[in-house]
This record gives sequence, structure tokens and C-alpha cells, in this order.
Amino acid sequence: MIYAEILAGGKGTRMGNVSMPKQYLPLNGKPVIVHTVEKFILNSRFDKIFVASPKEWMNHTEDVLKKHIQDDRVVVIEGGTDRNETIMNGIRYVEKNFGLNDDDVVITHDAVRPFLTHRIIEENIDAALKYGTVDTVITATDTIVESTNHEFITDIPVRDVMYQGQTPQSFNMKMIYGHYNALSSEQKEILTDACKICLLAGEKVNLVKGEIFNIKITTPYDLQVANAIIQERINND
Ligand code: CTP
Repeated sequence: MIYAEILAGGKGTRMGNVSMPKQYLPLNGKPVIVHTVEKFILNSRFDKIFVASPKEWMNHTEDVLKKHIQDDRVVVIEGGTDRNETIMNGIRYVEKNFGLNDDDVVITHDAVRPFLTHRIIEENIDAALKYGTVDTVITATDTIVESTNHEFITDIPVRDVMYQGQTPQSFNMKMIYGHYNALSSEQKEILTDACKICLLAGEKVNLVKGEIFNIKITTPYDLQVANAIIQERINND
């Protein structure tokens, strides 16, 4: 089976003092999360599309999705205490309700990246089925500077081999579930990136090319950029 899991379990603290988590804020008249889910329902290869939301926002998520989206593959589930726990809640839901099969894959995506494309989704599905672990990246345009002491440079890696991580990140579900469950609670706290968990466990992580406009809405400035992207698309239509 091929599952999608849209990660909307966060509180969006870096967005500042807004009335609701950023995934529910309006973008051109529709909540951000609706724009994202709309991209996923266009793909008929998904058997189920999970939307993981904070527990106290589950009713709101149901209402918003009911209003804008008619697709009975969409299921709202409870998010977790951190992003990886949210991903695992999707896998636990499948384990409990459908059973986990060896070749099941999940395409996980930040709810607050509404501009992903059909190509990115398709390539994630294909690569997840073939390789088991996938990250979506763009080439780094700025030079990356490392400072482990936050005062002086400790390294400047060669830019040609540097990429910036986006999402989707996609996984063979049994594989990542096994690696995650083998971690200690200290390791779980440090390893906040799900692809890194697989990498350290010895998996090969395949790269899918992202897009520069596949931005993550993190701060109020990002929401302005997202509105500008939409406005430009409307003007070009
Ligand atoms: N996310 C999630 N479950 C969590 C934490 C985050 O599903 N427990 C999701 C967010 O909803 C978001 C995505 O992961 O769609 C990317 O995370 P980030 O931008 O860090 O979101 P927040 O944690 O909401 O933001 P902040 O760090 O500013 O609080």
C-alpha cells in the first residue's frame, strides 16, 4: 500500500502570536493545510492520506477538510509530541487498522509546505518503493558555514556537495518503524530528522530534486512570501 501522511501536529511557535497554529492560517482564502492536502488528493496512487493534527485541533482539522475537500481517503489522526512521533503515529495507525506489510511505504510531508508539485510526489513514491528511504532536497545556493562553538568557523564544506533538505521524506514503513523503535529516548531526542535515523542505521537515502518554491512556512515573513508566490501565479494565469 502507498500512504501519505501530512504532518500538521505542530504548534508553530516561531510564527509568533497568532490565534491558531500556522497550518490553519489563511493563504489566498483557504487554510494553508487545505492547499497541501489538495496536492495529495490529485494523486490516485495513494490508498490513504493521513492528516496528523494536534489533539486539541482535530475537530477543527476535520471541519476545515470537510468544507474544502471531498475525498474519502483522507483521515485525520492525532499528532505526536514531536515531529518523529507524529510520523510514527501514522505508522501505528496503519499497524492497528490495516496491518503493516513488507512493501508499505509512506510519503511524509510538512503541512506547511503547500507548494510541492505532482512531480515531487510521483518521484517520492517511485523512489520509496525502489530504495526504501527518500529525502527531497535542493542544491545549496549559499555557502554553508559550520561553527560548532557558535563563535568561530569550524568548517566550510564544499558547496557543490551541499544540499538543503525539504519534504516529502518517504520511507518503507516497516524499515523506519524498526529503526525508530530501536533508539533510546536520548537518541530520539537528538535525531530529529527521520532520514538521519535511517542513514545512521545504515540505509541508503535516495535524493529527489525539490523546488526552490517548495518553501516551509515557519515565520510571518514566509507567509508573506507564500502569498506573493500565489499572487504571482494568479497574475500569470
Ligand atoms: N509537526 C508535527 N508534529 C509535531 C511537530 C511538528 O506534525 N509534534 C509538523 C508541523 O505541523 C509542520 C512540520 O512538522 O507542518 C514542520 O515543523 P515546524 O515548521 O518546525 O513546525 P512547528 O513545530 O509547528 O513550528 P515551530 O518549530 O515554530 O513551533
